[in-house]
Amino acid sequence: MASMTIRTDEAYARELDAADPLSALRAEFDIPTRRALTGTGAGFSPEESTEPGDSPCIYLCGNSLGCMPRRAREAVIRQLDDWSMLGVEGHRHGRDPWLCFHERFRGPLSRLVGATEREVVAMNSLTANLHLLMMSFYRPTRERYRIVIEDSAFPSDSYAVCSQAEAHARYAGFDPASAVVRLTPAPGESSLKTQDVAREIDRLGGSVAMVLLGAVNYLTGQWLDMPGITSQCRSRGIGVGWDLAHAIGNVPMSLHDWGADFAVWCSYKYLNAGPGAVGGAFVHERHLADRTLPRLAGWWGNDPQTRFQMSKTFVPVERADAWSLSNPPILSMAPLIASLDLFDRARIGALRQKSLALTDYLERLVDRINAESRGGTIGLLTPRDPEARGCHLSMTLPGDADAAMLALRRAGIICDFREPNVFRFAPVPLYNTFTDVHRTAAALRAIVA
Ligand SMILES: Cc1ncc(COP(=O)(O)O)c(C=O)c1O
Repeated sequence: MASMTIRTDEAYARELDAADPLSALRAEFDIPTRRALTGTGAGFSPEESTEPGDSPCIYLCGNSLGCMPRRAREAVIRQLDDWSMLGVEGHRHGRDPWLCFHERFRGPLSRLVGATEREVVAMNSLTANLHLLMMSFYRPTRERYRIVIEDSAFPSDSYAVCSQAEAHARYAGFDPASAVVRLTPAPGESSLKTQDVAREIDRLGGSVAMVLLGAVNYLTGQWLDMPGITSQCRSRGIGVGWDLAHAIGNVPMSLHDWGADFAVWCSYKYLNAGPGAVGGAFVHERHLADRTLPRLAGWWGNDPQTRFQMSKTFVPVERADAWSLSNPPILSMAPLIASLDLFDRARIGALRQKSLALTDYLERLVDRINAESRGGTIGLLTPRDPEARGCHLSMTLPGDADAAMLALRRAGIICDFREPNVFRFAPVPLYNTFTDVHRTAAALRAIVA
């Protein structure tokens, strides 16, 4: 068994760190320290630790809010300086003219999701983008009106699809109560398989209008078979959209080749662009010239060649930008420059390789803890197949969840908890180390004991 062969000493973790070709990237991030967190009410207390108080925490929460790239500060200050010195002239004559500021993200975002530059745009926030794209791609009729989501879809997605169904139901004449179908794994299975999705679509006959799924599930960490599901849906004439909140910057994707209709994401998790940072969207090239698509339009979606002619008629630009509404939020976008530069430096393929190793290491150490436990054990909700997950592992811990969380915090670990009893640990290859993983396992061992 894998857990029998692994070395469990911390020296081994340090050896793995020393051999890590991406280790220099950690220095590009500010990682919260125990000293900074002590006294905030978050449960951190450096005096109980053998570590010096200003050592970095073990930050395993990049699946919720990524750490701050150090250059984010100067990226924001640069825009503040231009605003302060140039005022409105910054739109055209700043160092990074604001009129086309969002265009600089096309290249790096397209590389992360596997798209052409025309197919991606940085705009709005995730849920807002979901609504904007459903307005175009969810076009229900009386007969074909259902939306298929996961039973464990993120609540905001669930609210968005239910509200879309309700908004359309009164005009299209269907029952909104039966419009949203929630997929659960087959009996005896813990994760959703491509054939489960296909089977459900077939069971529902011609009534499915759209499938909207979280590419990496926020709760279980399962990475769905995106190409397989996309192709199953498309072969049945069903539109398919992906929520990439937990996938972008975590796993490599090829949205264009896979043929998804659309995708949406946020950039405050693995993209490290800061709290509430600008979101993004992908729209497949085959839709970009389609002017018959219904959409909620705004002036920033208009062709930039004619945008300032202030015409009464909307002319959508033939790129994903056509779905943007307003001029971009420069201050919220600026940190994304710093972060995406790091992705371009590291490359998503190399990050994924390190991510696979970090997550595998955590899994093996947890297996070892369970094998040696004389009492409770740690439950793993995330699939064991590395190809069916991103970096995060979701676990159930024995005993009282509040006590476990406090013990983790006292050990300087920042992870998160989701009701009813799920702890999520996300070793992120940009800034986490094998030593972080080893120390986390030591804290888990103490909790189990
Ligand atoms: C999977 C998923 N979908 C949607 C959202 C909602 O994102 P936003 O608040 O940016 O709209 C989140 C937020 O964490 C999420 O994890």
